[in-house]
Amino acid sequence: MRLLFIGDIVGKGGRGAVRHLVPELRREYGCAFVVANAENIAGGGGITRKCIDSLADAEVDVFTSGDHVWDQRGFAEEIVTLPHLLRPANFCPEQPGRGHAVFTAADGTRVGVLCLVGRTFMNGLGNCPFQAATSAVAELRRETPVIVVDFHAEATSEKIALGRFLDGRVSAVLGTHTHVETADQTVFPGGTAYHTDVGMVGAVESVLGRAIGPVIQRFATGMPARFTVVEKGIALHATLVDIEPATGRASHIERIVRRLDAGDEDGEPDHEMP
Ligand SMILES: [Fe+2]
Ligand SMILES: [Fe+2]
Repeated sequence: MRLLFIGDIVGKGGRGAVRHLVPELRREYGCAFVVANAENIAGGGGITRKCIDSLADAEVDVFTSGDHVWDQRGFAEEIVTLPHLLRPANFCPEQPGRGHAVFTAADGTRVGVLCLVGRTFMNGLGNCPFQAATSAVAELRRETPVIVVDFHAEATSEKIALGRFLDGRVSAVLGTHTHVETADQTVFPGGTAYHTDVGMVGAVESVLGRAIGPVIQRFATGMPARFTVVEKGIALHATLVDIEPATGRASHIERIVRRLDAGDEDGEPDHEMP
C-alpha cells in the first residue's frame, strides 16, 4: 500500500496546488491513500469547512491539523461535521473533534491515522504526546497494523524521539509544522518510516508561506506587521511511504516536490484571517 502524505497546505495558493496536483500524483505514483495537513488551509491560519469542501475533488482521504486548528471562528462547531479531519489527539479531551481514527484506502487496506502536537517550543499546547501515542496506537492496533502518525511539532529532537519511541508499533511518523522539508527520511530498524518534516504546500518566494518583507520587518524591528499569504509560485512538498498491509511495516520512504505551473494557479476567493 502506497501512502502519499502532504505537508501543511497554506492558503488559497496551497489549496489550488493540492486540487491540481494530488489527483495526478495519486495516479503517477499509484497511491492508495492520501493524508494532508490542513492547519493553514484558510487564509494561512486555521481551517473552515468551506476550504475543506473546496478540496472535495482533490482525492485527499484524511486531513490532519495542528496548533492552528481553532484559529478560524466557528471551526469548533464545524469540525464535528468532518469525520475525515483530525485535530491533535493530545489536546484536552473536552475539545470537539477526534485525534485518531481508522479509514479505508482505495486498495481496501484499513489505515489508522493519528495526529499529535509536540510540547517543546509549542507554548505548552498539548498533553504528553508520548502518553497519548501509547494509548491511541494500542487502540488503533486492535483494528489494523497500518498506522500513520502526523507529529506536528517544532523541535527536531522531540520529533526523532517520538519516531524512535513508536518504531515497530506504527508504519510511519511524519513531521509537520515547520513548513521546511528535511532530508532525513528513513526507515527505522523496527520498520517505521520516519521524516522530521514533510514541508509545506506554499510559496517558494516566502517565509513559511508569508510575504517576506513584513516578516523581516517584525524580526528586525520588533514592531507588529501584517503577515500576508503569498499565493503564487507554489511548491507542493510530500512524502511517499510503501507499507506492507499484513504487518504494517514500511519498506520504502521517498520525498517528492512538485511545482504548480503558473497557468494552473486559480482565482478562487480567499478566506482571510479574522
Ligand atoms: Fe503550519
Ligand atoms: Fe503548526
